[in-house]
Parts: sequence; structure tokens; C-alpha cells
Amino acid sequence: MTVIKAALLGFGTVGQGVYEAIQTHSEQLKKLLGASVSVEAVLVKDITKERPGVPRELLTDNFNDILSIPDLQIVFEAIVGVEPALGYLKQSIAKGCHIVTANKVLFAQHGNSLQQEASRKGVTVGFEATTAGGAPVIRTIKELLRVNKISRIEGILNGTSNYILTLMREENYTFEAALKLSQEKGYAEADPENDVEGYDALNKLLILSELAFGEKPDLSVSGVEGITRITLEDIQKAKKAGQRYRHLVSAEMTEHGVAASIKPVLLSEDHPLYSVDGVLNAVAITASLAGTVTIKGAGAGKLPTASAMIEDAAALSGKLQTVQPLSARSLFAG
Ligand code: NDP
Ligand code: HSE
Repeated sequence: MTVIKAALLGFGTVGQGVYEAIQTHSEQLKKLLGASVSVEAVLVKDITKERPGVPRELLTDNFNDILSIPDLQIVFEAIVGVEPALGYLKQSIAKGCHIVTANKVLFAQHGNSLQQEASRKGVTVGFEATTAGGAPVIRTIKELLRVNKISRIEGILNGTSNYILTLMREENYTFEAALKLSQEKGYAEADPENDVEGYDALNKLLILSELAFGEKPDLSVSGVEGITRITLEDIQKAKKAGQRYRHLVSAEMTEHGVAASIKPVLLSEDHPLYSVDGVLNAVAITASLAGTVTIKGAGAGKLPTASAMIEDAAALSGKLQTVQPLSARSLFAG
């Protein structure tokens, strides 16, 4: 029996989802990749926390333990913020590992340089999970609309905000109670201000814009607005008028570059994003040949995000070495 060695950076909502998906979908992964994926180590910040479901000997709080794993092939990264994640990913690439990240803050700022470093080393960077959770928006643009010229992208890119707006409209939740539930469900960022003030949607729009147009928009004039100014009264008044607030992002190629907007918008029933409720995200891509392609799916949460990361790993089919399962765990056990 041979294995493909992987390591996991982060064991929060997303990291736990990836670990679980590797166990529950091992047969599918084995068929696609030619060997089982073996998680050799899990990096966490606080090594003293109880972590049911993962063998204690896999846990470490020292990144050097990850670097010292022989024949390591895939590093899944699901920690928070730019550093130390960026340094870890650069060192993983230098070691010759393929990386798969969910970290949009990091990727929005450093995605290009990471991809360049990876390409120099002959490895890849999977980043499907950075944008729209389980809805395969990145791969659609990157692989299925390569000849098309994309002229516009419009969407709902923050699951937490959409979930909050839906609970406030349908169940009369206060903003605070709806946010609390989003946090309990693992949808919200470690700092939820990123969700509700629009910065998370901004990072995702930057990633999509770079991918679709080859450049990022200048938002210094239009600014970034989240959902915090919308009151329960506003939402209920809109409901009576048959309208819904949505947190919408858009980016459009113009002769002066990419024009973008990130703000809450009042939609009527005839708008295609009117009925995108709950934690769903949706992205409508206007392309020269295909017309408008709309992709919709769970925008946040443990398994939808893990799905995106596992599919990135499965896309490495044919690029991975399989090795005998000599345990790396003994390197740092105890
Ligand atoms: P959590 O806060 O639930 O988990 C973060 C994990 O990273 C924890 O296990 C934490 O360790 C670990 N960690 C944080 N800092 C460090 C560090 N300096 N060194 C080592 N480990 C560290 O976050 P999520 O799982 O929700 O999100 C992870 C990433 O995925 C983020 O970048 C987020 O933006 C992104 N993402 C999240 C989605 C979601 O639905 N939640 C969806 C798509 C992307 P410890 O457990 O010890 O605290
Ligand atoms: N906090 C993010 C959201 C997670 O709610 O959309 C998914 O990227």
C-alpha cells in the first residue's frame, strides 16, 4: 500500500472539515489520485486545546515539524490572516509541496507572487476555497471560460451577511442575534467585522477580478460598504414592498480599467439574485460566448469549504508521488 502525504495548517471550522472529508471520501480520493491521502501532521496555535476526532500525535504547534516530514506532497492551509500563513506557504512551496489554501485575506494580497513561486518550483496553488465556498467559481473562470472574454461579474460573496439579512427578514432576528448564529455555525470570520463591513467580500472580489480581468479594481472612489447600516425596520419595510436587501459586489471591465462596487442593494423579484437566501453565494459571470453563467452554492461552512479544498487536491491527479507509509509522526511525537 502506498500513500500521498499531506499536512494540515489549522484545525478550526475549515481544517476540521478537510480532515473529515479526507476520511469520509478516502475511496474517491484513492481512485482519483492512485493512493490514499495520509494526513501526517496538523498545525494548530494552541496545542493544549482538546481536539476530539484527531489523534493527539498528529498535532503540533511548530511549523518545523511540518517541514521535516519526508516526501510531503500537499499542504492544506486554513489559518487566519497573512502571517504566519504566507511564510508557511512559501516554505512549503520551497520544499516542493503543492499548496491548497482557503485563506482569502492572504490570497487577495499575495496570490500572484505565490503562484509565481509555485510555478518556478513546478508545484501548484489551489485556491477554490477562497471564494464562494463550495460553489466552483474559481475553476469555472480559470478552466471553463478561458477563450471567452469576461466583461462583468456580479454576485453575493459573503455567506455571513446573506445569512444575517435572511434571518432578519424571514425570522425577525436582530442583527446581533443573527450574527451570533452565523458564528456558531462557523460561517463568520475570526473577526466578523470583516464579514459585516464588506472586507471579506472585497477580498473575494479582488481574487475574481484578477482572475477574470487580469487586474484589480480601484475602490478608492466608490469605497466598500457592508450591511451594518441596514436596520430591521428597513428590511421589514422592504419585505412589505416585495423587495430584499442583498450585499452585492460587481466588477466590470471599462476602457478606464475595472470599475467595481461593494454595497447593500435593494432588489426586486425580477433580479436573478433576489432569491439567493441563507448562507448561499451566487456569482453571475457575463462572458463573450457563453452569455451569463450563474453559479450558486453554500458560500461558507465546514463541509462546503472542505469540498473546494478536496477538489483542488483531486485536481493534482497525475502530479503526485506515492510513497510507502513510513510514519512521520514519530518525528515529533510526545
Ligand atoms: P477558525 O478560527 O475556526 O480556525 C483557525 C485555525 O487556525 C485554528 O485551528 C487555529 O488554531 C489555527 N491558527 C490560527 N493562527 C495560527 C497560527 N499562527 N499558527 C498555527 N495555527 C494557527 O477559522 P476557519 O476555519 O473558519 O477559517 C480558516 C481560514 O479559512 C481563514 O483564512 C478563513 O478566512 C478561511 N475560510 C473560512 C471559511 C468558513 O466558512 N469558516 C470559508 C472559506 C474560507 P487553534 O485551533 O489552536 O486556535
Ligand atoms: N466568512 C466567510 C463568509 C466565509 O461568511 O462568506 C466564507 O468565505
